[in-house]
Formats: sequence, structure tokens, C-alpha cells
Amino acid sequence: MSLSVKHLLGIKELQQQDIETIFKTADNFKQVLQRPIKKVPALRDTTIANIFFENSTRTRTSFELAEKRLGADVVNFSASASSVSKGETLIDTVNNILAMKVDMVVMRHAASGAPWFLAQHIDASIINAGDGVNEHPTQGLLDAFSMREKFGDLSGKTVAIVGDIMHSRVAMSNIYCLQKLGAKVIVSGPPTLIPKHIESMGVSVEYSVKKALQQCDIANILRIQLERQQKPLFSSLREYALFYGVNKQMLDSLNKEILILHPGPINRGVEIDSDVADGKHSVILDQVENGVAIRMAVVYLLSGNREMPE
Ligand code: CP
Repeated sequence: MSLSVKHLLGIKELQQQDIETIFKTADNFKQVLQRPIKKVPALRDTTIANIFFENSTRTRTSFELAEKRLGADVVNFSASASSVSKGETLIDTVNNILAMKVDMVVMRHAASGAPWFLAQHIDASIINAGDGVNEHPTQGLLDAFSMREKFGDLSGKTVAIVGDIMHSRVAMSNIYCLQKLGAKVIVSGPPTLIPKHIESMGVSVEYSVKKALQQCDIANILRIQLERQQKPLFSSLREYALFYGVNKQMLDSLNKEILILHPGPINRGVEIDSDVADGKHSVILDQVENGVAIRMAVVYLLSGNREMPE
């Protein structure tokens, strides 16, 4: 039970076998999380720093819980409350934290490639918790794990990723992960939010959301990332909801059942209506639950432990 990589920087660098190993380990940890005592002491000699240069609700809480449930010592670092605001560099910041005998770093950063840069300059294992518009590997893994929980093998399944593909690191990690598992991927949304040449990644493009949903077994619906848009890329949120939002009426008209995912945070009434987000085909909260097991698996496997704890 080991991975082919020292760091989890992106799913692009993982082998299919790595993904299967992470899922198998997460299956075991999910069972641990159902017990009255949801802890195993596998990492009691390990100290992990969660370094977040961007806001987060799910990822940060999920990593902290995962690490604590493995018995690790955890330090949380938020850039807004740190000496980064006084001009300290990323490498100096992380080296100062590592000097306090930290073994592993979980990092979220607004700059695409920041975890790769860091990996060239420090010895500790790094887990990318989202870098710019590049990758969010643990989200890609937990999304695919949640799909696998419902469908088993994803080989031959079709997944539509709907929304702001252009600014989404979740879309990139989903595409890499799902393709390595043998699924077909369609991306859908306004032409201004779909990168040119994305077909070169082996995905299909369908600008009509309804047509994309007609072809898929699973839809992963993404938020519009207004904070990453330099200039407006569609006329209004109302128009977006009208033409690209997923609502119950649209799903009912398909005469088929589609598994609904959303990585969060949700903009209700924009990319997804509440009766879809909270409906019987939605696994949005399962994704959040599975996130803890997936992150336990990733942290555990990168720590170098080989024996699965009882
Ligand atoms: N899905 C996700 O990354 O959510 P947060 O930004 O809240 O971590």
C-alpha cells in the first residue's frame, strides 16, 4: 500500500493504481469513521501544517479532521493573520514552519503551480489543497470516490462537468481522475467559460446543458468563480441561471435519473436550484463526508506508513 509519488501535487501525475490505492485505503477509513470512536493512532508521531493562502470551508476543515482522526499533531496557518502581509516569501514562510519540526504541509494558494515550486525547495511531503485554476486533487478524488460509491466501476460511465470550466481547478482534477478511471467526460457551460482547445484533453464540449445532461450518467455542477474573472464573461447571474442553471424542470424533462454532485460552495438559484441540490439524486453532503476519508487516506499513504491500522 504505497503511492508512486512523494507529494500529491495533482492528479495528472498519479497512476491509475495510485487512485485505486487511495480509494481502497479510504474505504477502510470510512469504516473507521462509522465507529463510536472515530480515531486510529496511525500518525501520532507526525506533525502536519495546513497552510491556507486562500479562503476555505470544506477543504480546510476536512483536512484538519482527517489529520486529527489519524492522531497527528496539527497546526493551522492562515496567510491573512501571518507575516506574509509583512512581505515574507512563500519559501521563507514554509521553511520557518518546517524548522518547528513539521513533517507534512497541506497548502492552498491562489497562484497556479505554487505547490510545485515549493516541492522543489523543501523536503517535507506537500499536499495541494487547491492552486489557482490548476488542480484541486483531493476534491477530484473525493468526487470520483462518491461516484464510485453509487456506480461501482466508473469505466464506460459518462460524466458531465457543468459550469465555469475556465476558472475551475476542480474541473481539471475531475477530468484527469475520471479519465484515468475509464470514464467519458463532457464539459458544458457558456462558450466564454469553456477554455479553447479543451478537446485536446480528450473531453467533449456540449454548450447546451440540457443536451449534456441527456448524454450523461452523472453531473458535477460547478460554481461561477466571479472572484477569478477580470472582466464579465456573461451578462447577468439571472441570465446564467436561465440558460445554464440546473433545475428540477430540466431534469424531469430528461426522463432519466442522473447522479448530482457539486463540490461547493453552492450558489443556490444560479448554477443549481435548491430542489436539485437537496433532491433525492444529490450526493453533495456524501461528497463532504467522503472528503474526510479520502484525505485520511492521502495523508496516511504519503506519511510512509505501510501497515493499515485496525
Ligand atoms: N470544495 C472546496 O474546495 O470548498 P472550499 O473552498 O470551502 O474548501
